[in-house]
Amino acid sequence: MTSNRESGEVDISAVLHEQRRFEPQAQFAARARLQAAQLAALHERAGKDYLGFWRELALSQLNWHRSFSVTLDDSQAPNYRWFCDGELNVSHECLDVQIIAGRGEKAAIRFEAETGEVRRLSYRQLHADVCRMANALKSLGVQMGDRVVIYLPLVPEAIVAMQACARIGAIHSVVFGGFSALSLRERIADAGACVLITADGGRRGGEIVQLKAAADSALAERCESVRNVIVLRHAGNPVDMHEGRDCWWHELCAHQSPRCEPQWVPAEHPLFLLHTSGSTGRPKGIQHASAGYLLNVKLSCQWVFDLREDDVFWCTADVGWVTGHSYVCYGPLANGATVVIYEGAPTYPDGGRFWKICQDHGVTILYTAPTAIRALMRLGDAIPARYDLSSLRLLGSVGEPINPEAWMWYHRVIGRGRCPIVDTWWQTETGAILISPVPGVTATKPGSCTLPLPGIFADILDERGEPVTGPEIGGYLVITRPWPSLARTIWGDNQRYIDTYWRKFGGRCYLAGDGAYRDAEGYFWIVGRIDDVLNVAGHRLGTMEIESALVAHARVAEAAVVGRPHEIKGEGILAFVVCRGARPGTAEVVTLAEELRGWVAAQLSPIARPDEIRFADALPKTRSGKIMRRLLRAIARGEPLSQDVSTLENPAIVAQLRGDQQPSA
Ligand code: WT7
Repeated sequence: MTSNRESGEVDISAVLHEQRRFEPQAQFAARARLQAAQLAALHERAGKDYLGFWRELALSQLNWHRSFSVTLDDSQAPNYRWFCDGELNVSHECLDVQIIAGRGEKAAIRFEAETGEVRRLSYRQLHADVCRMANALKSLGVQMGDRVVIYLPLVPEAIVAMQACARIGAIHSVVFGGFSALSLRERIADAGACVLITADGGRRGGEIVQLKAAADSALAERCESVRNVIVLRHAGNPVDMHEGRDCWWHELCAHQSPRCEPQWVPAEHPLFLLHTSGSTGRPKGIQHASAGYLLNVKLSCQWVFDLREDDVFWCTADVGWVTGHSYVCYGPLANGATVVIYEGAPTYPDGGRFWKICQDHGVTILYTAPTAIRALMRLGDAIPARYDLSSLRLLGSVGEPINPEAWMWYHRVIGRGRCPIVDTWWQTETGAILISPVPGVTATKPGSCTLPLPGIFADILDERGEPVTGPEIGGYLVITRPWPSLARTIWGDNQRYIDTYWRKFGGRCYLAGDGAYRDAEGYFWIVGRIDDVLNVAGHRLGTMEIESALVAHARVAEAAVVGRPHEIKGEGILAFVVCRGARPGTAEVVTLAEELRGWVAAQLSPIARPDEIRFADALPKTRSGKIMRRLLRAIARGEPLSQDVSTLENPAIVAQLRGDQQPSA
């Protein structure tokens, strides 16, 4: 799959022409929450009366402390505001409302640690823990609108911390535990957080991830706003505690009341910030509102996951990503469901771990990423065959296009041919799933996320902003009307929000940054990013971010990073580097390559570690000095070069970049 990022034309010729089609199974369809006729009625209603459609859903789905009269305020477009004169509280929706509905003793969370330890938290227990932490935060002076950064492993306390922030109207900003101290520092500084919640350590693949040590090093510079650090004792590793700044979670919460009145907040009050990569070196703090966000995540659980009372829902994402916000912490709880969370690595201690968890917890809905499916698929069919997967009834995929081979394996070996697969397209910025099959209704095709959900108007435009006509012509994926869970802005940089998502087509529609095409039936097929964003194992990484990390190394003069197809990770990272002092082709650069790979992992995160570093005397540039990224991408993929290299400042460099003159490493 390729996209021509410079010109914006999307080349879909490399996309496999998938012909298989799976009709909804009668058994599933018979008891689906959303029947074909209802889905059709929702689509019709949304088409005819867009605002009435959203107003009615907001009134019926959410528990308003104070109702709203304005459905959509577009006076400051593209900073759209939904239900803005209403008031509610997201944690009240996820906890109190569930207890009132009789789910107090029902499991809200089933947690499995990597060590195998299992903990079950009922809605009542979760409510009490959230209230204690909410009171604890208040005792530290945290007020409505303050930012709290959460840097925790995937343990129940991560959900407790997020819900506690929501309860008092503090804005959480979760930083994935796999991010480095430097990445953490950047996010803390950008958010201007007053409190950091972390743990001694996390567990992954039998090792301990030193979270507190990373937090200490992050806080050493540029984080003056942080007054307190709350430390969860989890992995048991020794840590330094800073007198006056740091306190243990258990000590702080021990004497807090298990009751805390929710802080009613305006619908538009920011619920959270979540930093994600874009096409510059600096991650953007995507800012979501409260009510609109909750409405779409709650509804999509019903429409896409067919979520019902007896479901055990396992979304394998970490709460450090938006998927873990929408489909671990908020959506399922707002529906009173039971969620499973698992702290460790998918293949620890062996490749059967995922399937054992499904079996032991009676998971009914599994939602994971193509990269995990491909990695587990590679281990063979015999491993999953050892487990009883009969509780599964629905499978989901998210994060990147799923290749038909992985789709078929998921369907056949994990779903045993019985379970519908929902390939869900969305983004950090969209807050919730926008394009997806409705199980039991939509026929699926391996590799297609099918059709937009009711109330979502998606289109594909060409460079001039005209809808592409005719099937199977690629273009820019856009959403033509605002929807409630749309990100409101980029924290501290509204201009960047407008420029990134709205400028291209004159403010008329939201630009997703993905290339896509439609088939004859109108099904959407996502081709991949059309900007300088990579999707490595379902994780978003900016090429510029990796380049900035590389040039921060004393030996690097210049760097250009591109993606290339990778069997498991979907996209892999290749970095072209011009270095100071070392000559390409010498043995010295082999050691330097290893050093640079480790350097990037330490600067950003192990997920950003380049698969390969290739050294050159120079980077290919046009006469005006622009790096020819398109050429580098073709080189990275080993494709024949169709570009005209005569405009190159230094044509001889091409052979070197191809690796023809690399030392054999
Ligand atoms: C990018 C957003 C949304 C949660 C996880 C990722 C890609 C996401 C799909 C899908 C093809 C997909 C897109 C998108 N993507 N889901 N079902 N099919 N591509 O969130 O980190 O904000 O990344 O992930 O390229 O733009 P994110």
